[in-house]
Amino acid sequence: MADSMASQATTGGTAPGVTKRDFLSLTTAAFAAVGVGAIVWPFIGSLAPSKDVLALASTEVDLSPIALGQSVTVMWRGKPIFVRHRTAEEIQVARATPLSELKDPATDQSRIKRDPWLVVVGVCTHLGCVPLGQKSTDAKGDYNGWFCPCHGSHYDTSARIRKGPAPTNLLVPDYTFTSDRAIRIG
Ligand code: FES
Repeated sequence: MADSMASQATTGGTAPGVTKRDFLSLTTAAFAAVGVGAIVWPFIGSLAPSKDVLALASTEVDLSPIALGQSVTVMWRGKPIFVRHRTAEEIQVARATPLSELKDPATDQSRIKRDPWLVVVGVCTHLGCVPLGQKSTDAKGDYNGWFCPCHGSHYDTSARIRKGPAPTNLLVPDYTFTSDRAIRIG
């Protein structure tokens, strides 16, 4: 369009009522607008999160294949997340534990969103090892939850610290149930 307008200007084909001076002003403004657009677009583009980042921001987990008593590990923002389909006995034992016995007191109910699922960040709160207890053959510690072999921290079936140097319970990540059998972490 600028070319055709330029061509009109050089051939004297300016529209009636528009002086050559008006035309030059309009052309300059148009080029300025195009120039600003060309600079702003890549800048805005660089501010938008990439598809990789968006994908890592949240993780969907289908709970359907996780059998009763089984745990799975999913990765979310570079961290392992433990999802355990707890048995009625595991839940009952966790709820029967007096808060006075806990190093980092928290009820089991405060650590879950919906029975029978427990969802926690699988990173030991001592120095960051990944505790054992996800596989059926793993050591699960003295409280049948998770055991961190790095320095001997034992977590119960609510992933609360019960013994060893870890100062606090395994963290509960931000997550929501998107249906009866699916959660979104993050
Ligand atoms: S990192 Fe788990 S007990 Fe030290």
